[in-house]
Amino acid sequence: MGIKIGIIGSGTMGSGIAQVAATAGCQVKLYDTNQEALDKAKTALEKILNRLIEKGRINSKEKNRIQSNISYVDSLKDLSASNLTIEAIVENLDIKKKVFSELETYVSDDCIIASNTSSLSIASIASSLQNPERCIGIHFFNPAPLMKLVEVIPAIQTSKETLEKSVQIVSDWKKIVAVAKDTPGFIVNRVARPFYGESLRIYEEGIADFATIDWSLKELGGFRMGPFELMDFIGNDVNYTVTETVFTAFYFDPRYKPAFTQKRFAEAGYLGRKSGKGYYDYDEKGKIVTSSAVERSHNEELSQRIFNRVLVMLINEAADALFLNIASAEDIDNAMTKGVNYPKGLLAWADEKGIDWCVSKMDELYNEYHEDRYRCSPLLREMNKKGLRFFE
Ligand code: NAI
Repeated sequence: MGIKIGIIGSGTMGSGIAQVAATAGCQVKLYDTNQEALDKAKTALEKILNRLIEKGRINSKEKNRIQSNISYVDSLKDLSASNLTIEAIVENLDIKKKVFSELETYVSDDCIIASNTSSLSIASIASSLQNPERCIGIHFFNPAPLMKLVEVIPAIQTSKETLEKSVQIVSDWKKIVAVAKDTPGFIVNRVARPFYGESLRIYEEGIADFATIDWSLKELGGFRMGPFELMDFIGNDVNYTVTETVFTAFYFDPRYKPAFTQKRFAEAGYLGRKSGKGYYDYDEKGKIVTSSAVERSHNEELSQRIFNRVLVMLINEAADALFLNIASAEDIDNAMTKGVNYPKGLLAWADEKGIDWCVSKMDELYNEYHEDRYRCSPLLREMNKKGLRFFE
């Protein structure tokens, strides 16, 4: 392919993105200010590739090819020949802006300058450039080599050409692209909020314990992990911060309100798997050792109520994202199935359940609580009136 990629930041995401690009045949320069981070990235890649050989996914020739496609550099100037640069450094707007404006002095006029940010606005990052039309968000999921989805986020400054080229390159890397509007959480980190938030709320109301809620979503919904297992896996500190950031960025819309339960868990250091204790206890291998699941009552009616409540809140969030033109219906559904492995796209799920079911479940919740959090998306209401579906 011969296309030259510059990656800034060789941490978790940067090294994963470098592996993806190098595997696809691109010439990658991976840059970090920290030599240790560069060394770690190199060693980690060696291990990953060896594991892929053991599993028979690649041979040693391919391993050599991938490795020789990546060079590890300690100067930003070394990225000057790039056609596309992707930044994956610390999530701090001022630092990113500084790096972007310096980078722009080295690269050619047609080099695309992208950020892998999860929570900052692409418009604010782009504003640091002389030519902000070349700036775009290219948001991978962790681990980048395994997760199929990449959200591509044009800022209001981004040119059509930058968007088209970026979508093309990422698609060539065999990723599924979902184009999202430059709004907090893009698609996945916005639409997924109720999976955690509504589950925490159900727990806080004393309706069920963690294990029962997890069981309901896994058994009745087909989710691979329950919300509490997943929060423990992500880390309660990380997951809480994402929620708080989205809540603040949405001007404190009560739909995204964080839960005290999770805040206290994070404050107490009950971060989940990585600290050995979260909603569950873990052994050294990260396996759950205690679980109230053993005492859980198999109350089908209760479990169904829990599942319906979380599901309809997720559907409502997905419908509202479509209503506000955050992305197309196809991209919203792809984002959730390919970015966070949901068993079905939420809008397809809405069709399956019936739009009338979704509206009546939302109205039931609203009538019970009279909280703005439970407002039904105007799109669902309108579709229900007209008897429409999301997909034919
Ligand atoms: P990380 O902490 O693993 O890696 C960041 C790397 O950037 C470090 O190696 C650090 O030495 C380097 N760095 C810091 N300042 C630098 C500078 N001025 N110039 C060059 N290198 C610098 O962080 P991680 O998790 O890889 O996140 C990076 C970005 O990706 C952040 O914007 C984050 O929000 C985003 N992101 C993270 C995801 C995750 O699950 N970790 C998922 C998707 C996006």
